[in-house]
Amino acid sequence: MFDCQVAKYYLFSIGFFLENIKRAACYLGDFLLLKLGGYMTKKPFLLAPMAEISHRAFRELVAGFGGCDEYFSEMISAGALISGGQYESWYLDNAPDPEKFVYQLVGGNVEHLANAASFLERYECAGIDINMGCSAPPIIRTGGGVQWMSSIDKAGDMIARVRKRTRRRLSVKLRIGFSDDVGYLVSFCKRLEAEGVERITLHPRTAKEKFKRGARWEYVGMLQSHVRIPVAGNGDILSAEEMNRRAVECAAVMIGRIAVRKPWVFAQARGLPLPAPIDLEDIAMRFLDMLVTYQPPEFHKSRARRFFAYFCSNLIWANHVRTLLGRETELPAMRRVLERFFKENPEERFVSGGK
Ligand SMILES: Cc1cc2nc3c(=O)[nH]c(=O)nc-3n(C[C@H](O)[C@H](O)[C@H](O)COP(=O)(O)O)c2cc1C
Repeated sequence: MFDCQVAKYYLFSIGFFLENIKRAACYLGDFLLLKLGGYMTKKPFLLAPMAEISHRAFRELVAGFGGCDEYFSEMISAGALISGGQYESWYLDNAPDPEKFVYQLVGGNVEHLANAASFLERYECAGIDINMGCSAPPIIRTGGGVQWMSSIDKAGDMIARVRKRTRRRLSVKLRIGFSDDVGYLVSFCKRLEAEGVERITLHPRTAKEKFKRGARWEYVGMLQSHVRIPVAGNGDILSAEEMNRRAVECAAVMIGRIAVRKPWVFAQARGLPLPAPIDLEDIAMRFLDMLVTYQPPEFHKSRARRFFAYFCSNLIWANHVRTLLGRETELPAMRRVLERFFKENPEERFVSGGK
């Protein structure tokens, strides 16, 4: 019995060692290509889950430029989903690429999460993700988001329960934790892996850190060297070049805010042809049209404001336009603001080379 355990341990260690050598060789190959210039990775690029942004209208916009490898939904409350919340059909919409769609669930109740995962079995998707990173106080108060990271046992037991209820790929998106404790992060992730999590996305900031302090990307590679499952890295990527550069350090790259500013950035990172020049007014109008088509009227104002908060960063007069849009409550009025702005400032309308 004892000998069997020891043999198993050694076999596991040798396997793990060989796997890390293989990974190191791949990273070295990528790194050398990167140094030679013009490197383009084949690793997956993922669109981040973003509340009020990662909905169908925005996905359609990204897809119009060539799309990405996976589209995460905005976080969906597990409790609301299983109790048939009023807006759930909008959250469940997995178009335009259901096979590339990942449902992200949020909540602090194990039963709700397990039932929601089981409920999602009937929807086509690439996987189900559990939000263990959101640090918004209302989410933390329910025990969801990053609050799961406060206890390895609780999180491990929750994942075990969810795992039993779904055959889909199960992933989690998390932060470093409540403190800058690498040992804890590794132990936490190893437990999730043991319970059946198949991919981890690390947004390498602690629970308290907002966007002011930079993401600690060195933690992404470090975590990958301690677990067998793929680790995706996420945080502060600002360009298509950087997406390719960061891919060297991890199994997949997830991007959020820069994709809202530049919905064409995935295509650019893959070297796909881009419209020349890129017409910002046309993108803004298309987005407003799709918001009307694919989102309920109650969501229009907040979702338009969220999108333009980032998209307007393409403009020299970004703050001015955001303020003008912020005064409007209806989409037709927002449309008029943008039309007038581009008419008066034609030099702001086009960008070339994807910049
Ligand atoms: C407006 C907004 C909403 C977000 N909503 C979610 C969410 O629903 N679920 C989640 O896991 N992360 C959420 N995040 C975090 C992002 O997924 C991502 O981790 C973060 O923006 C860092 O990536 P970036 O620097 O590429 O934007 C949100 C971020 C923003 C800016």
